[in-house]
Amino acid sequence: MKIAMIGDLHGNFVATQALEKALDKVQPDEIWFLGDAVGKGPQNVETCDWVRRHCTLCVGGNWDYGIGGKEFAEDGYFWAQLGEERLHWLNSLPREAERWISGVRFRLFHGRPVTPLMSAQTDKDVFSQAFHPDGRDYTGIIFADSHRPFVRTLHDGYAVNTGSVGNSLGVNRAHCAIVEGEMDGQEAAPLAISILSVPYDNEAAAEIARQDVRLPHRESYITEVLTGVYSR
Ligand SMILES: [Fe+2]
Repeated sequence: MKIAMIGDLHGNFVATQALEKALDKVQPDEIWFLGDAVGKGPQNVETCDWVRRHCTLCVGGNWDYGIGGKEFAEDGYFWAQLGEERLHWLNSLPREAERWISGVRFRLFHGRPVTPLMSAQTDKDVFSQAFHPDGRDYTGIIFADSHRPFVRTLHDGYAVNTGSVGNSLGVNRAHCAIVEGEMDGQEAAPLAISILSVPYDNEAAAEIARQDVRLPHRESYITEVLTGVYSR
């Protein structure tokens, strides 16, 4: 079984559509969503509804809860776009999930607010805590949040970051993780983990933001989409 795991779409529907086209070729059996469908970019209804239509497993991210729970007044732009029903859906997302794949017990979450922000360079002791929450022992963690994809092996197990679909840092393509193995298999079996890196029309995505003068922190978003350099 082949699963595409995606996160951090962040209202960039140009990138999301490019990823969808690439996934048509990869043909995953399922797509799982690991948080942050909305916020930052201008096309939040589109990315939120895309996730609801295509993803069979969903966990929430810090932006989903921040906007869905109306935590910050400056997010009024996003509340108005999304409407109450979508805000409720975002705020009701579970914080984490668990699946066995090829004998690995995977913990699936976004990153914040479940753990601190973890990048490829984060100290292994910080990762270790994410493998062993509340007396549970996982042998794999899959998450997003840092907007840069990676696969690391640690003494605790596999640490996989899906990267970001719509707001990639570093290489500014749309990214996701492809995981292939025996679904729900608790016996050790071969496991393949790879990163899918999809070029998209970054200028078109930036132009949609340029046309939307009410988008909060518009210039930072445009810079990030065009350059992959963190700007806010
Ligand atoms: Fe994010």
